[in-house]
Amino acid sequence: MQETILILDFGSQYTQLIARRVRELNVYCEIHPYNKIPEITDWIKGVILSGSPYSVREKNALIPDLSKIRPKIPVLAVCYGAQYLAQHDGGEVKASNNREYGRANLSFIDRSSNLMKGMSDGSQVWMSHGDTILNTPSTFKIVASTSDVEVAGFSIKDEKTYGIQFHPEVYHTTEGAVLLRNFVIGICGCAGSWTPESFIETTVKWLQEKIGDDQVVLGLSGGVDSTVAGVLLHRAIGKNLHCIFVNNGLLRKNEFEKVLHSYRHMHLNVKGVDASDLFLDALEGVADPEKKRKIIGKIFIDVFEAEAKKIRNILIGRHPFPGPGLAVRILGEITRERVKLLQEVDDIFIGSLHNTGLYDTVWQAFSVLLPIRSVGVMGDERTYENVVSLRAVTSTDGMTADWAQLPYDVLARISNEIINKVRGVNRVVYDISSKPPATIEWE
Ligand code: XMP
Repeated sequence: MQETILILDFGSQYTQLIARRVRELNVYCEIHPYNKIPEITDWIKGVILSGSPYSVREKNALIPDLSKIRPKIPVLAVCYGAQYLAQHDGGEVKASNNREYGRANLSFIDRSSNLMKGMSDGSQVWMSHGDTILNTPSTFKIVASTSDVEVAGFSIKDEKTYGIQFHPEVYHTTEGAVLLRNFVIGICGCAGSWTPESFIETTVKWLQEKIGDDQVVLGLSGGVDSTVAGVLLHRAIGKNLHCIFVNNGLLRKNEFEKVLHSYRHMHLNVKGVDASDLFLDALEGVADPEKKRKIIGKIFIDVFEAEAKKIRNILIGRHPFPGPGLAVRILGEITRERVKLLQEVDDIFIGSLHNTGLYDTVWQAFSVLLPIRSVGVMGDERTYENVVSLRAVTSTDGMTADWAQLPYDVLARISNEIINKVRGVNRVVYDISSKPPATIEWE
């Protein structure tokens, strides 16, 4: 565990930016929905309440339960968060007479406040709110004002709880970083020793513990967020990660191919699905902006689910494969050539089982390269080449097994194809032993 700042999200467009600013102070933080507050452990050093598109005056205002947080843990409430605290504690929040958006300058700064230390007179702040705090409860102390907004910042008596109506996280609040540092380092007491590198390490480890041997299907959008998620998961679980990248027909020119290419370059196991027609057909004749978004969202989910199901069926239906791989199916010495030869043979065998619909009727099927050579004749030439054995078994758990009675005509075609296509093989045999007394594998 590590010291953490918890950000409670009320839906502000800037929530992610708050997180970024906290991370820039080398402090780990997590964003959680305002109504899904995680367990408050000793590792949580402070809580930031985000802004919101909603108004605290609305009937359906978003109300957090801070009973486990205040006054134990320091709180910095931004915009909606600040208005919520003011209203909750008995103050008055009203619609602003002058809507307060954009640039403003602090005309009063209480530098004795731990939050406002080091802020300069006239410091530029960025406002973005339609409501304003008119009256504060007696426990509140105003620590910052602008010429239009008296309660631009406040602290609460006997608590390390603060509110500001401006946004410290945005670039245009020129000393926003000073204020956030005051809160995160000064008030919450974070050490500031976290780094993104340690995040990668701990996240990969956490993912490995959480996922174990499970398979994961991940939708990639081509954007940074899902790509980072993909790369972290790939580091954690490698080939057990299955990515899906959907072409919705609304990407930039050649983007589908380019993005797929770069994913593969990152060694992500990704399936590209071209669903352009599905999206464009559904969007035909629709002009309403919200409807367009909803259609795109819904079709994306449909396509993703259908693909995820296909992947699931393939994974669930896939025959077991031994840990040591083809090593236990190459009797005698393993060389690169012998591995390659067996891969070719197996590919034909398994491919034919898929094509004939027999793959799912057997529990396991594979080929074995024997350590002997046998005489054959190809054209007018006598050959002295490798023998491969095909094995297919029926079973429920691998503990006992019977040889699968594959149709002769299928076996005949497979044998023909192997001998004709795989150089170095002149004889194919079919293993008709049950387990016990034989085992499924040959080694
Ligand atoms: P046997 O050959 O013992 O195989 O009848 C029963 C099942 O176990 C698989 N198998 C192995 N799996 N490491 C594994 O992970 C091994 O060394 C190994 N040997 C056999 C075999 O493929 C079959 O599914």
